[in-house]
Amino acid sequence: MGEPSQPPADGLRAGSGIEASDPETSAAEAAWIEVIRKMDEVYSDLIRYEVDLEQKNAALEHAQQFIGSVMASMSDILVVCDQKGRILQVNPALLSLTEFTFDDLFNQPLTALLAEEDAQVFRPGGIVSEHEARLKSKSGGYTDLVAMNCSPRLERQRGMPGMVIVGRPVGELRRAYQGLHDAHLDLKRAQLQLVQAEKMASLGRLVAGVAHELNNPVSFVYSNVYTLSRYREKLVRYIDAVHGGMDHAEREDLREQLKIDQLLKDFDPLIEGTLEGALRITEIVKNLRRLSFVDPTENQKVNIAEVARNAMQWVRRSGKQVIALEDNLPTELLVEGIEGPLHQVFVNLMQNSVDAMKNVPHPKIALSGRRLGLQVLVVMRDNGPGIAAENLSKIFEPFFTTKGVGGGTGLGLWVTWSIIRDHGGKIEVSNSPDGGAAFTIILPAG
Ligand SMILES: Nc1ncnc2c1ncn2[C@@H]1O[C@H](COP(=O)(O)OP(=O)(O)OP(=O)(O)O)[C@@H](O)[C@H]1O
Ligand SMILES: [Mg+2]
Repeated sequence: MGEPSQPPADGLRAGSGIEASDPETSAAEAAWIEVIRKMDEVYSDLIRYEVDLEQKNAALEHAQQFIGSVMASMSDILVVCDQKGRILQVNPALLSLTEFTFDDLFNQPLTALLAEEDAQVFRPGGIVSEHEARLKSKSGGYTDLVAMNCSPRLERQRGMPGMVIVGRPVGELRRAYQGLHDAHLDLKRAQLQLVQAEKMASLGRLVAGVAHELNNPVSFVYSNVYTLSRYREKLVRYIDAVHGGMDHAEREDLREQLKIDQLLKDFDPLIEGTLEGALRITEIVKNLRRLSFVDPTENQKVNIAEVARNAMQWVRRSGKQVIALEDNLPTELLVEGIEGPLHQVFVNLMQNSVDAMKNVPHPKIALSGRRLGLQVLVVMRDNGPGIAAENLSKIFEPFFTTKGVGGGTGLGLWVTWSIIRDHGGKIEVSNSPDGGAAFTIILPAG
């Protein structure tokens, strides 16, 4: 809108045709001109105000639209109350959750939405964090749980004219969390089963070793007893003949025929061998009892050198390969621990080495160890291909395996690591400079 042009006072005078000589007329004219000028000023001010007002109105509408769109896209609920706790504003999320309309709630106390005791929690000026409550719904029931926060609503001129409550329905979240929790429990159960399976596999390896170990003495005890029973038959025949009144020549003949002298000479080694076999069986059984009947609550002094050597025997016997042992362990190296699980540690490590050295021409395991103050350090090296650099940080993780489907569960080293950790120790892996994997075990000294 353009500025209205102001007619010059002179122009008016010139175009009026009134005589300028009349002083009264001149004064009236000047007054009119002044009035018209003032009106013009007022008019142009009015126009300016109107433009201003229109601009402010547009800005206000824009701000309102902006706030409306923000409130509409909020998935959290919003309730704005005045100083007395009466509802002034709510957002669409609250309306859709409770099924109320804005008119149902406007100017109503908070008890329109909340049970009395929950409404008491929220006071204008107060701060509430994470109060969980159910909201009333229009149908007469209650919604899912909503976690609500309340903060004072501040205004520059009026100080603290009310409060703002923001809330998030957590029922869905709770259900999702419960689902996650259940899934986690299932996974833990499955993991436990797998660990049990790994322990069973480890036990299986032990049993294979035991079977192999027992096979030898049992078979020679069996063959010795069989021979002894054949000798007994011959002796019975000979004694019967002697008691039957045989003459000397016949008796000597029979003695020759039944090889009685040789048989009598054989008795000692046969009995000795049988006893030795029985002793070996007793020894194996004693070993087994030591492994399986350990009181897990009581740490013992365990000779880790013997445990490692023993494990080596088991592993050697259960496989087909001939594995050389370079034994640099002292005769006795005591640690604080439980023998059974520690035995399992070495069986697992050595079994891995045996697997890794399948295609190595002269497979070898080297054991060394010493006491270091309050700790004992044992190092086990093999001369296999070693562990790929990118796998060094992963091999103790549960289920990490490079052995392919059916080859391994990938739990052996995890179980090993867990046992060492439970003993208050540490296990580390590296590759030897001349190839092969090296495992270092640190345990509390006994
Ligand atoms: N001495 C070793 N030499 C080379 N690689 C090894 C050696 N020991 C372990 N590894 C690697 O670490 C991986 C994990 O070993 P771990 O004993 O945990 O599982 P696994 O032997 O594959 O399966 P499982 O022990 O359950 O039969 C192995 O698959 C192998 O790749
Ligand atoms: Mg393994």
